[in-house]
Amino acid sequence: MNLSNSVVLITGASRGLGLEVARIFARRGASLVITARGADALWKASEELALQTEVLAIPGDIADLVHAERLVREGLAQFGRIDVLINNASTVGPSPMPSLDLLAPEAFEEILRVNVVAPLHLIQLVLPQMKVRGEGLIINITSDAGVKAYAGWGGYGTSKAALEHLSRMLAEELRGTGIRVYLVDPGDMNTQMHREADPGLDLSHLPGPEVPAPAFVHLVEVETASFGRFEALRMVDGPS
Ligand SMILES: NC(=O)c1ccc[n+]([C@@H]2O[C@H](COP(=O)([O-])OP(=O)(O)OC[C@H]3O[C@@H](n4cnc5c(N)ncnc54)[C@H](OP(=O)(O)O)[C@@H]3O)[C@@H](O)[C@H]2O)c1
Repeated sequence: MNLSNSVVLITGASRGLGLEVARIFARRGASLVITARGADALWKASEELALQTEVLAIPGDIADLVHAERLVREGLAQFGRIDVLINNASTVGPSPMPSLDLLAPEAFEEILRVNVVAPLHLIQLVLPQMKVRGEGLIINITSDAGVKAYAGWGGYGTSKAALEHLSRMLAEELRGTGIRVYLVDPGDMNTQMHREADPGLDLSHLPGPEVPAPAFVHLVEVETASFGRFEALRMVDGPS
């Protein structure tokens, strides 16, 4: 798929990885639909991106079903289609992150709502028009915490494991439709989310989100497999 002339919906595009991917896609000519809860940061991102491409920015919480429906409805109304959905927005839950024996049920529910239920809801909203065209990409952002067990990362890690298996199931269900499903682990980055997960830790040695972001171009424009789990940091030279 060529990024120029394509329409990409990116959640959590007001900072961090989402904004870096949006910047690169904007430079390649993709039109963007972006969202995040904080309106000021989203407007700022939108103004910058609009210097390169057409942008529809709607602030809101992806776990709010009405907001998600509005995002896709207005995106389709403005651009006529959504070719790529990047489920990037995510939460680690309470900071500092409690061990599982202390994770409140309400906090766990919120993590699952944002990291698993909302991505599936957005997928359900964009799929019908992708199916009609026989083409589309769903990219779900995951973490090695969804595969490996790190003490204290239980709520977030469990949600990413669920997102990963959901993606595998979805890829099976979409086999033969022309719609590709990918899991991308961007690797450790020095971002607000990581700083909230590890408050007090010096993360300045970690790469910024601009390092893994170019790999997403590869995924859209070069990769053709119908399903894959990729580490973005290694994907710049092709998936490992
Ligand atoms: N940083 C790492 O080391 C690392 C490692 C592996 C995987 N990841 C994954 O990479 C992705 C991006 O993380 P990041 O590190 O770039 O985080 P970040 O810098 O904190 O950015 C998160 C973005 O998501 C938005 N967001 C959060 N909750 C939202 C909600 N409920 N509804 C709408 N937007 C929401 C935030 O804006 P608002 O707060 O204003 O809503 C922000 O735009 C996540 O899926 C994360 O799990 C990160």
